[in-house]
Amino acid sequence: MIDKIDETRKSFDENLSKVENLTSLEDLRIKFLSRKGLVSQLFESLKDVSKEEKPKVGQALNQLKIHTQSKFDELKEKLEKGQKSLDEFVDLTLPGRKRVIGSKHIITQTLDEIKNIFKGLGFSIYEGPELESDYYNFEALNFPPDHPARDMQDTFFVTDKFLLRTHTSPVQIRLMKEKKPPLRAIMPGKVFRNEAISAKSYCLFHQVEGLYVDTDVTFAELKGTLVAFVKQFFGQDIKYRFRASFFPFTEPSAEMDIWWEPKGKQGRWMEILGCGMVDPNVLVNVGIDPEIYTGYAFGMGIERTAMRKYGIDDIRILFDNDKRFLTQF
Ligand code: PHE
Repeated sequence: MIDKIDETRKSFDENLSKVENLTSLEDLRIKFLSRKGLVSQLFESLKDVSKEEKPKVGQALNQLKIHTQSKFDELKEKLEKGQKSLDEFVDLTLPGRKRVIGSKHIITQTLDEIKNIFKGLGFSIYEGPELESDYYNFEALNFPPDHPARDMQDTFFVTDKFLLRTHTSPVQIRLMKEKKPPLRAIMPGKVFRNEAISAKSYCLFHQVEGLYVDTDVTFAELKGTLVAFVKQFFGQDIKYRFRASFFPFTEPSAEMDIWWEPKGKQGRWMEILGCGMVDPNVLVNVGIDPEIYTGYAFGMGIERTAMRKYGIDDIRILFDNDKRFLTQF
């Protein structure tokens, strides 16, 4: 019997040394340590051992049990740890995963570019709300009460008094009410118009407003500033012209056109902005004395400007979020 116990122990040790993973360890457990395993079988045969030998054999059996169980536990722990570190193993030879990085929308890029040019010309940046009152969007800007721009056709009214601003000019009023001249700022932002959507117009677009108020501001300075801008933005040899125009909040008023010749198409003049000297009535509305101060203002649409610069012919594509288009910029 003692020999058998020794043999089992040897066989166990030998089997154990061949275990490579948790599966073969489980096979080992079933063979030796399960309820019908070799060790249990030896315990079974203890009843056939003579009375005199029993204590000795019993002791040897207990030692075998302790030995096998502890060796088994030890190896199991080791293999489980190894398994874990295998799970965490990073294969450094794998090719890297490509991370697609987004890009700034072409409108944001254009806005950034315009902001930078005007910053260089001494303008600061000021912003106002997109939800405006009739007072800021129209009344303070000298729109008469029956002006067609107030019509439901053009303006998204939210209530009787509040609306989505139709231009960035109300921000001029906010700035002039909040701060004392001299004032020199550009005011970028979204504007909204209730227009039929087409290749040329969309219900939402961006504008950059400009305002300069000080003593002795002249129309010549306005022209000089805008010419400096278009040259920096479109290139030194851009052809431009000013045309007399009308806005309720500027007097005199003008529009600036640039010569536009899309590839393979007939060239033509294209309007890019409205401008003029701040109407004295507007200065009075914001509490600035028109006898002391004069000012100029301008406002340009960003989409159109970007479309001209980058040769885009349908405004809607700027709002589609089509990656095939966006990734080109
Ligand atoms: N707010 C005018 C528009 O939306 C543009 C403009 C701004 C004209 C400032 C003159 C001065 O068309």
